[in-house]
Amino acid sequence: MSLQAVRYSRGKLEVLDQLRLPHEFHYDAVTTRKDAFDSIASMRVRGAPAIAIVASLGLAVELHNAGPGVPGAASAADAVAHIDDALDYLKTSRPTAVDLSNAIDRLKTCTREAAAASSSSSPDDIVRAFVDEAEAIFERDLQTNLAIGEHGAEWLRAQGSAAAAGGSSNDKTMSVLTHCNTGSLATSGHGTALGIIRTLRDKKLLRHAFCTETRPYNQGSRLTAFELVYEGIPATLITDSMAAALFRTRGAEANLAAVIVGADRVVRNGDTANKIGTYQLAVLARHHGVRFVVAAPTTSIDLATRTGDGIKIEERKPEELTQVTGAVIRDDGTVDEAAPKVRVATADQRIGVWNPAFDVTPAEYIDAVVTEKGVVERGADGVFDFSHIMPERWAAVVGKEEEEQRANRARLGAKFGTAVRADTGAPGTL
Ligand code: MRU
Repeated sequence: MSLQAVRYSRGKLEVLDQLRLPHEFHYDAVTTRKDAFDSIASMRVRGAPAIAIVASLGLAVELHNAGPGVPGAASAADAVAHIDDALDYLKTSRPTAVDLSNAIDRLKTCTREAAAASSSSSPDDIVRAFVDEAEAIFERDLQTNLAIGEHGAEWLRAQGSAAAAGGSSNDKTMSVLTHCNTGSLATSGHGTALGIIRTLRDKKLLRHAFCTETRPYNQGSRLTAFELVYEGIPATLITDSMAAALFRTRGAEANLAAVIVGADRVVRNGDTANKIGTYQLAVLARHHGVRFVVAAPTTSIDLATRTGDGIKIEERKPEELTQVTGAVIRDDGTVDEAAPKVRVATADQRIGVWNPAFDVTPAEYIDAVVTEKGVVERGADGVFDFSHIMPERWAAVVGKEEEEQRANRARLGAKFGTAVRADTGAPGTL
C-alpha cells in the first residue's frame, strides 16, 4: 500500500506526523483549524499540496462537526464571513507555498457562490458547499499527480529518444536526481517530482534515482529516501554537496538524464521557489548538460506574481541547522526503535545562523515545467508562457492586469494630451 500523509473521511481527518519519520508512524487527529495550523506551522505535514489539503480539510472537519449551521452565524453572509476569517488565519501558517493561497481563493469563491445561489441559502448550505469543495481539492490532487507522472515520464522518454537518435544503444533507461520531498507524503498520493520517478519506474524507463539529503531539515534523507525504499525503487542517497561530483563522475555511466524537483511557487515567467538548494542544482545541471525539470500542479503556479523577486521566502529557526533529532543507533548498527529519540547539537550553539527554507531558481535554468495539463518548455525568450495551459486564470489575472494598464495609459494620455508610460506616468512610449 502506498504511503498516506492524510487519512480522511467526512468529519474525520488524520495527518501523519512527518517529524517522527522514518522511525515511527503516528497519525495526529486534526479536528479544528488550530490543529491544522499547528500541523502545518510545526512541519508535521509538509509539501505545498499537502499543506493546502490539510488546511482545507481541517476547517471542513471543524465546520462539519460543529453543525448544523455555523456557530454564531444567523445568515449565509455571516457564515461566509466566519469562514473567511478562518481561512485568513490558516493562510498565515506558512508563506512560500502558493497552493494554500490558491485553495483558499477557491474555497472563498465557492462559499460566495453558494450564498448567491438562492436568497434562501442558509449557513448550513454554505458549510455543505465548503466541505464538498475541500474534499474535491483533496481528490483532484491525486488525479493531478498521476497526470504529472505520465506527462513527465513521456517528455523525458522523448528527450532520451531524441538524444539517442543515430546512436546504437537499445537501453532506454535513465537515471534522475531529485531534491527535497515531493512524493506521497507531500501530496495526496503518487507525488509530483517523485510521481514522475514512480511513473518512469512503472514504464521500465528508470535505471536509478539519486536523492539529496536536503539540508538543513533533511526532507530528502528522512522522507524521500524512506519513500524510495518503501516503494522498492533503486535509489542512492547523497549529501547536497555531492551533486557536482555525481554529475561529473557518475553522470555518463548512470545516464543521468534529468534533475526533477517540485515547487512551492512557480511565478508567471517560470521563476520557481522550491526547497533551499534547488537553485544550485539547476546551475550545476546546466553546466553538465543535464535537463532541469520542475514538476508542479497548476495550483502551484502563481500568475499574479511576475518574477521570482516577488516571492516571500520563509526563514526558519536556527536550531534546524545547529541541532538534529533522531533515533538511537545500537552498537551493532541497528536502530533502537524502543529508545526515546534524542536531540543532539551539530554546531556550536552560539553561532549566528541564516536559514531560508526556500530559494528561487530563475526560469532561464529550467528546461520544462510539468503540470497535469501538459509540459511547458522554456520559450526562446528565456521565460515560460503558461497562457495555453491555464487560459481562464491567465485571462482573469494577466488579461485583467493588461486591461487596467491600457485604461491607465488612456486616462493619463487624455489628461496630459501626450503619450505617457503606464508604470511611471512620465512621457514615453505607449
Ligand atoms: O519546507 P517543506 O518541507 O514544506 O518543503 C517542501 C518542498 O520544498 C517541496 O519540494 C515542495 O513543496 C514540493 S511538494 C510536492
